[in-house]
Amino acid sequence: MNLRFRSKLLALFLFLIILFASVQGYLLYFSKTSWILASFIGVLISGFIAFFFLRVLIRPIRRITELAFQFTPESKTEKVFPDDELVNLSKAIREMGNQLQKKIVEISQEKEYLQAVLRGMIEGVLVVDEKGRIRMINEALQDLFALPSDVADKFPLEVIRNAQLESTIREVVQEGRNLAFEMDVPGVDKKIFEVNIVPILGGPVAGSVDRKVSGAIAVFHDITRLKELEKIRQDFVANVSHELRTPLTTIKGYVETLLEGALKEEVAPQFLQIINRHTDRLTKIVEDLLALSRIESREFRLQLEGISLAELIDDALDFVKGAADRNKISISRADLPGPILIQGDRNHLEQVLTNLLDNAIKYGHEGGRVTVSAIETDQKEVRIAVQDDGMGIPKEDLHRIFERFYRVDKGRSKELGGTGLGLSIVKHIVQAHGGRVWATSEPGKGSTFHCTLPIKSETH
Ligand SMILES: Nc1ncnc2c1ncn2[C@@H]1O[C@H](COP(=O)(O)OP(=O)(O)O)[C@@H](O)[C@H]1O
Ligand SMILES: [Mg+2]
Repeated sequence: MNLRFRSKLLALFLFLIILFASVQGYLLYFSKTSWILASFIGVLISGFIAFFFLRVLIRPIRRITELAFQFTPESKTEKVFPDDELVNLSKAIREMGNQLQKKIVEISQEKEYLQAVLRGMIEGVLVVDEKGRIRMINEALQDLFALPSDVADKFPLEVIRNAQLESTIREVVQEGRNLAFEMDVPGVDKKIFEVNIVPILGGPVAGSVDRKVSGAIAVFHDITRLKELEKIRQDFVANVSHELRTPLTTIKGYVETLLEGALKEEVAPQFLQIINRHTDRLTKIVEDLLALSRIESREFRLQLEGISLAELIDDALDFVKGAADRNKISISRADLPGPILIQGDRNHLEQVLTNLLDNAIKYGHEGGRVTVSAIETDQKEVRIAVQDDGMGIPKEDLHRIFERFYRVDKGRSKELGGTGLGLSIVKHIVQAHGGRVWATSEPGKGSTFHCTLPIKSETH
């Protein structure tokens, strides 16, 4: 109760006493009424006036109480003492306090959820206010652009140097509609982002159905990998078409020459040989492509069994012996550390080894040597190495030779009947076994291809 209210009550009290005394005095003195009647009339008049003034005094309290109950809708009907304004007021205020407390807890919980969501997102998030100044960023964005932690109140352009980002955010804030664009970020590891920007709509604009734009949210999706895959796919289709077209054009050329009369000439058998060679090449490309697509398909299942590593290597060496002899290359297996059983698919692993050996022979030099060795790296894994002393692979090509159709020397590979798919097949098979494959090389001195495979454990 404030001072003014208390003085009002005091004034009313004094006024009533004076009023009572005056009425009573008047009646006793002038009308000669009895003391009891004079007192009674005095009380009546003062009571009536007191009632009227109190009503006026209490009115604001009633109004506050009503207002307080409006903010606490659940307890509206629960006025404990319907006529006691002060009790009601204190109850309403207590209720209001409770609900306020509840709301604060709810809001801070919601804030926590939001922050957890933003933290958990791999997409970068940037929030700006209606002036285009940064309000907040999430950890992902901070990591993606290596931003300092204190970016609040800066303009996006000051922290992410991209004019299109800045102008698009401005456009979204001004026009209140969603916009998206692709953003290239140059640098050591070049990245591409798809940035989606949406306006944050606040309250309604006076005299309009539109809502005020109170800022914007930009979400950064890293689509670098997606773009890379798209490019790989496009390149693959282009490569396949190119690889198929070359032998087809040659075959067609020779067939036409034969049809135009060369059939009866001496060169005819030679032409047919060429046609035959190119048909073999086409078949080999298609076979390799089919093998690749089988391994890459969802349905692909390995037929796992325990295989003796020594036996597997020896079988592969037998298989390529003819080619090695023709190139005067000696091939051998180094002694293994002991009998090793690996867990794998025999046919596919033979394919891995014969592909690696085939390359070692093809890209080796006459009179050279190729060795297959293996060591147990730990209880669960064996590392096989196919080493040659051939031409080697330049450093810049090393990480690309496992790509489809990638060859260091296109001409030489084709001349030797290569399709450029062998190492790609090797990589897929080894990865399907849970292993890794990589190459090391010293150009001019030779290359070594390593692959890891799982060892069959006793319990299998
Ligand atoms: N042992 C090796 N020595 C040198 N270069 C190699 C060796 N193995 C593979 N390469 C290079 O990697 C490329 C890709 O190999 P691969 O996928 O087997 O295709 P292909 O043998 O059909 O050309 C080859 O064209 C060759 O340039
Ligand atoms: Mg090959």
